[in-house]
Amino acid sequence: MSYELTIEPLGQTIEVEEGQTILDASLRAGIWLPHACCHGLCATCKVQVLDGEVDHGEASSFALMDFERTEGKTLACCARLESDVTIEAEIEEEPDAESIPVKDFPGTVKRIEQLTPTIKGIFVELDEAIHFQAGQYINLDIPGLGISRAFSLANVPSTGREIELNVRIVPGGTGTGYLHEKLAEGDRVKLSGPYGRFFVRKSANVPLLFMAGGSGLSSPRSMILDLLAEGSTLPITLVYGQRSRAELYYHDEFLALAETHPNFTYVPALSDEPADSAWQGFRGYVHEAAKAHFDNDFRGRKAYLCGPPMMIDACISTLMQGRLFENDIYTEKFFSAADAQQVRSPLFKRV
Ligand SMILES: Cc1cc2nc3c(=O)[nH]c(=O)nc-3n(C[C@H](O)[C@H](O)[C@H](O)COP(=O)(O)OP(=O)(O)OC[C@H]3O[C@@H](n4cnc5c(N)ncnc54)[C@H](O)[C@@H]3O)c2cc1C
Ligand code: FES
Repeated sequence: MSYELTIEPLGQTIEVEEGQTILDASLRAGIWLPHACCHGLCATCKVQVLDGEVDHGEASSFALMDFERTEGKTLACCARLESDVTIEAEIEEEPDAESIPVKDFPGTVKRIEQLTPTIKGIFVELDEAIHFQAGQYINLDIPGLGISRAFSLANVPSTGREIELNVRIVPGGTGTGYLHEKLAEGDRVKLSGPYGRFFVRKSANVPLLFMAGGSGLSSPRSMILDLLAEGSTLPITLVYGQRSRAELYYHDEFLALAETHPNFTYVPALSDEPADSAWQGFRGYVHEAAKAHFDNDFRGRKAYLCGPPMMIDACISTLMQGRLFENDIYTEKFFSAADAQQVRSPLFKRV
């Protein structure tokens, strides 16, 4: 059993299976609708139902209030069709966005590397190569647990069937706990993707600033390696924050890239390194390192921020103080279940 969904103002009509959400059906048809938490909590995916009946599913009463339901609004990430439906969504034109339908990808874990004491590199050979834009992420089904978790693709899009995930263990975390403690080489896994609008706006042709924290290096690494591989001559700066030298991974790779590419600058920052260690680099947080490096003037760039929500919020404040504003800042917040329950700032849209 399926219904037809027409998406305005695109005027496109797609099939939606019984039980499938509007968002899932749209992404799998290659139509991007705004979304973030995917669990009915943040309201990013709110759309107007112009015609037909929907079941609002598990939409929270905060994200979709009673009067909005009466007005015909629904959350695309939760809503399932009960008839043929027409919706109206706010879809922004993105000249650099590729329209890549989301698909399921089975694969085999090829190797697992301990990148730092808390981050594992998980390399999966997919049965079929995934096409994605550097910076995007996948949802990995956690074997046997009936849950999936989001992880950014850390490899460049041109690595064929092998993908790399950098997974930081969350204390008490169900999914990352399994991946760190139980997942083994040779295991079969399944993921879906690609997701997200975190990719380089290449057509802007302006200097790029990447700010990353923890395992939030994954997307920027893919984006930077991709830019350098295609011969970009734009100034590219990576400000990367970790707690300690032991947690600083791919450090030698970025040092070597900075040696061989005059347009690439690498600024590592450690926030909790022992005072008596041999570390010669910046001591402090990512936003502090960026502020010092650019002398508090970020004008004329595009900034790409990836990592924990608190780090991103601190970076946004710093960038704004240094006169870089919303239209030039793109973020990928590594939301967790707890973060998703916080109300998003109306000031900021997430990509
Ligand atoms: C778009 C996107 C891309 C992501 N990419 C990556 C990536 O490349 N690498 C990576 O390591 N992670 C990434 N994450 C985060 C990753 O999905 C979470 O770490 C994961 O959801 C935690 O799952 P869990 O099952 O281990 O924890 P849960 O069992 O869901 O949570 C257990 C407890 O830990 C808390 N918690 C969960 N996550 C965090 C966190 N990050 N920090 C602090 N407390 C937390 C929860 O609130 C809860 O109390 C990404 C998240 C998003 C949304
Ligand atoms: S993406 Fe639908 S409510 Fe968050």
